[in-house]
Amino acid sequence: MRPISRFRPTCALACLLLVATGAVRATASVVTDPKPAGEALSSGRATFRQFCAPCHGPNGKGNGAVAPLLRKAPADLTQIRRRYNGIFPQADLEATLLATSRDRTPLRLGTDELLWGPVFQSLSATPESARARVVELLTYLESVQER
Ligand code: HEC
Repeated sequence: MRPISRFRPTCALACLLLVATGAVRATASVVTDPKPAGEALSSGRATFRQFCAPCHGPNGKGNGAVAPLLRKAPADLTQIRRRYNGIFPQADLEATLLATSRDRTPLRLGTDELLWGPVFQSLSATPESARARVVELLTYLESVQER
């Protein structure tokens, strides 16, 4: 009779391999799949605090530390929906924050806001991850709309 004990380690190894590749696949899907709402919101908030809050303020009200030094007051970003007649212009903001030239900007923002396309592209490994970051940022921005 074939000793079964010799078979077991192979089986265990195969199982381990299956689990390992499964785990790798699971990790990969965590990276590429859209994040759960709460996570998107908190990483969007983190991006906002890092890149936008210096001018627009920690809560988007336009009162950032740098604001007094600017020639033009930073917009109050909690009033975007009100300014666009009750509709948060998600797609236009997304295109604008990813734009790399004035021609590709649906919203006529200040020239400075055109920086963000190149900034987010340079921070991200792929255009898709730059876009994912901007979408998260906008998830946060939409959540702070007051009206
Ligand atoms: C260096 C300061 C500065 C930083 C940093 C900055 N902004 Fe601005 N932002 C401004 C100023 C000033 C205005 C007003 C420009 C104008 O009216 O022409 C503005 C306007 C805007 C507007 C237009 C709002 C409206 O209702 O039309 C949006 C949207 C915006 N910023 C988003 C962002 C986002 C998102 C970030 C971070 C990625 C950011 N800004 C970072 C200075 C800044």
